[in-house]
Amino acid sequence: MRHKPSFQVMAQKLITGSEKKKYDPFNRVDYQETLNSDRWQFPEELLSLYNSPVYEELSDEQRWRLSLLEAINFFSVNIHGEQALVSAMEPRLYRDKRVGEDPVSSQYMQHFIHEENSHTYMLAEYCLRYHGSVFPDRSFAVAQPKFSPEVDDLLYYGRIYILESYLGFINQKAIKDPDLDTTAHQVHEHHFMDEVRHKAWDKAMIEENLRRAKDMNLSSELQAVRELLATYQEYIYQSSCNPAVYRTLGLENGMELRSEVIDCRKRKEVLRPWSEGLANYYAEIGI
Ligand SMILES: [Fe+2]
Ligand SMILES: [Fe+2]
Repeated sequence: MRHKPSFQVMAQKLITGSEKKKYDPFNRVDYQETLNSDRWQFPEELLSLYNSPVYEELSDEQRWRLSLLEAINFFSVNIHGEQALVSAMEPRLYRDKRVGEDPVSSQYMQHFIHEENSHTYMLAEYCLRYHGSVFPDRSFAVAQPKFSPEVDDLLYYGRIYILESYLGFINQKAIKDPDLDTTAHQVHEHHFMDEVRHKAWDKAMIEENLRRAKDMNLSSELQAVRELLATYQEYIYQSSCNPAVYRTLGLENGMELRSEVIDCRKRKEVLRPWSEGLANYYAEIGI
């Protein structure tokens, strides 16, 4: 019998994991009739304005509204990010040209896509019930230079890993927050459980594509990918500061507030475990 490459062993393991954790994709969350006004909708420490002088001037009611709007913004970033991810994953199924397009990997990617679809549904449901809409997509079209297939996939999975590790970092903080309202808590918890498997797949794909790219001496392409990943990470960091949130709250100078929050040292401190975790991982595998 032929020896299976390690990413296929991983795909098989993740299929078993997804099957064990099966759930009804459209009825996973018990949505509260009304939100509790004495519970946060997003962890207070993670509110983008938490360290800003403006926060001192907000009433308790405005702070609560801010937590709801930041939850809507975070879930909207999730939705748009995962939508883009899925639309690029779908053509890879059963194509059998690149790494992870064989039948076993494709089977796992079907679970991946199915789970992302259920996440989008669950997150959008929260936005629609408690805010009436999902925030529009603010992301710019990401640069897509022409690379060898291995480097192209390294960039694709590298970006997904950055997005999913950020979502997971915030999910974990939210799950541990005893003051978070019950529906928000459930949404973060369900999302986090599935994303553990997604990140394992991202890593398997990153490492296999990187190994092949190095064997092929594609060092100038790899250098370009390093820069593109850094740009994407900065974009994800900035996505948590949305001027629409500040405007809806009735604050003036939304764009100025955004710039102030992006440069805030204390805020960078709060997100440091995520950015350091990423830097360590990419250094460890040698990107
Ligand atoms: Fe997801
Ligand atoms: Fe995911």
